[in-house]
Amino acid sequence: MIHFVCGGAGFIGSNLCDKLLSSSKDKVVVYDNFSSGRMEFLESCRKNSNLKIVNGDLLDTGKLCRAMKGADVVWHLAANPDVRVGAEDTYVHVEQNILATRNVLEAMRKNKIGRIVFTSTSTIYGEAEVIPTPESYGPCVPISLYGASKLACEALISSYCFTFDMSCVIYRFANCVGRRGTHGVIFDFVNKLRDNPKELEILGNGRQNKSYFLVDDCVDAMIYAQGIQKKMVEIYNVGSSDMITVTELAKIVVSELGLSGVKFRYTGGVDGGRGWKGDVKVMLLSVKKLAASGYEMKCGSSGAVREAVRCML
Ligand SMILES: NC(=O)c1ccc[n+]([C@@H]2O[C@H](COP(=O)([O-])OP(=O)(O)OC[C@H]3O[C@@H](n4cnc5c(N)ncnc54)[C@H](O)[C@@H]3O)[C@@H](O)[C@H]2O)c1
Repeated sequence: MIHFVCGGAGFIGSNLCDKLLSSSKDKVVVYDNFSSGRMEFLESCRKNSNLKIVNGDLLDTGKLCRAMKGADVVWHLAANPDVRVGAEDTYVHVEQNILATRNVLEAMRKNKIGRIVFTSTSTIYGEAEVIPTPESYGPCVPISLYGASKLACEALISSYCFTFDMSCVIYRFANCVGRRGTHGVIFDFVNKLRDNPKELEILGNGRQNKSYFLVDDCVDAMIYAQGIQKKMVEIYNVGSSDMITVTELAKIVVSELGLSGVKFRYTGGVDGGRGWKGDVKVMLLSVKKLAASGYEMKCGSSGAVREAVRCML
C-alpha cells in the first residue's frame, strides 16, 4: 500500500507518517512545500526506506501529478490552517486550501487514484446552535474565510467522488494539540510566558469555550475510521467530548510551566469576546459517530492541553 501524504511534514501530518510507517509493509510519500512543515519532524522516520520525501508545492500541478503516480490513497492535510490571517489576506485560503485541493483532486483523477482522506475542521459549522454539534448539523454558516474554504474543499471532494467514482473520508477536527504543535493557543501562551512569566495577554474575554484533543488520538482515529469506510462519502467529527475555557487552559499552561502569581490581561477582543474576527466562541463536536464506529478517544480536553504543554517543554 502506498500512502501519498500532502502536508506530511506538518504537525499532524508528521505524526500520521510515523504511524503509517510503523506498519512494515506500507510505503509513504510525503509531498510538502515546507512552508510550515519541518524536515526535523520527519527525523524519526527518515531512515526508513519506505519513506520518500518530495519537496513540492500543491500549486505546481505537473510536479504533483508526477509525484502522485502509483499511490493507492491520498491523505490531504496540506493547508494554511491560520484562521486569523483570513481577515487580512482574503486570497490565501482560496489559493492554499481551495485551489490546492482542486489540484490534488485533478492529480488523483489523472493518476486514477480513487481514495482520499481529507482533514477539515469544526469551523465549517460556524457558531452552531446545537452543542455538541453532530455531523448532520446544518446549515453550515462559517464565520471565517478559513472555515469557508474548508467547507468549499469538502464540497469539491464530495462532488469529485460522485462524478469520478472516487471515495473519501472527511474528518472535521476540534482543536488538535500535542507533539510538534507549531501554532494555536497553547503554542502562543507558552511563548508569551517564556518572554514574560509575570503577565499573560489573553485575546478575547477568556470565556471562549472549546474542545481540545491529542494528536495521538487524532492519527489513531484517522487511520481507524478510514479503514472501516462503507459509504462513498464518509464524514466524521473528531475531538474530545468535553470543552474548557481559554482561562482554564491558561491556568493549565501556567501550572505546567511551574509559575505562580501570573496576571491574566484580557484584550476583550472583538464582537463581545471573540479573540479575533472568525474566532468561534463555543465549540464542542458530537463524536458519537466515531465512538459508535468503535474508536474510543483516550484523552479529554484538560489532559490533552496538559500533555501538549509537556511536549512543548
Ligand atoms: N491543528 C488543528 O487543530 C487542526 C484543526 C482542524 C483542522 N486542521 C487541519 O489539519 C491539517 C493539518 O494541520 P496542522 O495543524 O498539522 O497544520 P500544519 O501547518 O502543521 O501542516 C500543514 C502542512 O502542509 C504544508 N503545506 C501547506 N501548504 C502547502 C502547499 N501549497 N503545498 C505543499 N505543502 C503545503 C505545510 O508545509 C505543512 O507541512 C490542515 O488541513 C488543517 O486545516 C487542523
